[in-house]
Amino acid sequence: MNIVIIGQGAIGLLWYHKLSKQASNQVSLQCSARITQAPKHSLFTDRENHTTSQPLTLATASDLQTADVILVCLKSYNIAPLLPSLAKIVSTSTSVIFCHNGMINPQQFLVLNQPCYTLLTTHASKIIEPFHTKHTGLGHNDIGLICGDAERTQQEKVIQCLAEALPTVSFSENINTKQWLKLAINCVINPITAINNIANGAIVHTQFQQQIAMILKEVVLIAEHDGVLFDHQQLIARVLTVAKNTADNCSSMRSDILQQRRTEIDDINGYVVNLAKRLNITLVENERLVREIKALEYNNE
Ligand code: PAF
Repeated sequence: MNIVIIGQGAIGLLWYHKLSKQASNQVSLQCSARITQAPKHSLFTDRENHTTSQPLTLATASDLQTADVILVCLKSYNIAPLLPSLAKIVSTSTSVIFCHNGMINPQQFLVLNQPCYTLLTTHASKIIEPFHTKHTGLGHNDIGLICGDAERTQQEKVIQCLAEALPTVSFSENINTKQWLKLAINCVINPITAINNIANGAIVHTQFQQQIAMILKEVVLIAEHDGVLFDHQQLIARVLTVAKNTADNCSSMRSDILQQRRTEIDDINGYVVNLAKRLNITLVENERLVREIKALEYNNE
């Protein structure tokens, strides 16, 4: 398969490394414009702490035009600006897969004439230094079609290719529910850990339980308007399980604040708040979190 990965973050490099290992794949990487000179090799450290080096092949315009798969591993706020240029250059038979935190209004993807998928991963990885990623936690990948028509055989090939590189992968006919579950998890863990500067596991403490219940009550309400039904208590339990399973992790939002980067708050709690506004519903707790995270971003400027 001819595969282009867009984004040199922890997840982009994890896929780059894993997909490049399969001899049948030609994989190239498109880095962000701020990378003026990429190294000749990228480094990968596995969960047993073995580090290997991989030649870095940068994607050309022709790689993008002839790609079977384009895997977009960018921050959520960088996706909308990318879509018009992708639509112009990419062939209609290319499968475009988006792997990011937060939710993007599905209407935005309609500029693309390709089958578009979302890939939700629970694999954990972190950047040790630029172009060196470490696989820190085994996970699972859910993939589902978000727009366009997929050709069955091509879709099966793509899923098999991803599953061989970084198992396990399941195709989901109902990806919207899984997206909302991930969103609910991120609505709780990300802002609480960023605001309090704590590891994921610390949110299970009693002091956060009332706030967690309030955040999720609001998420359950808005998800229902999008056709996704959650049980409030079960959702709280799911979120706390993820916090325990990733107890030592520094959430992506906390990392963004600590490294003085923009966060994905607009596409996480902000996404829920915006949907609520369209329904004339005020979400006290999620709105508060959006304000607090924006204040932290502002202080960092
Ligand atoms: O954004 C993150 O950091 C992750 O999605 C999660 C699940 C909160 C674990 O750190």
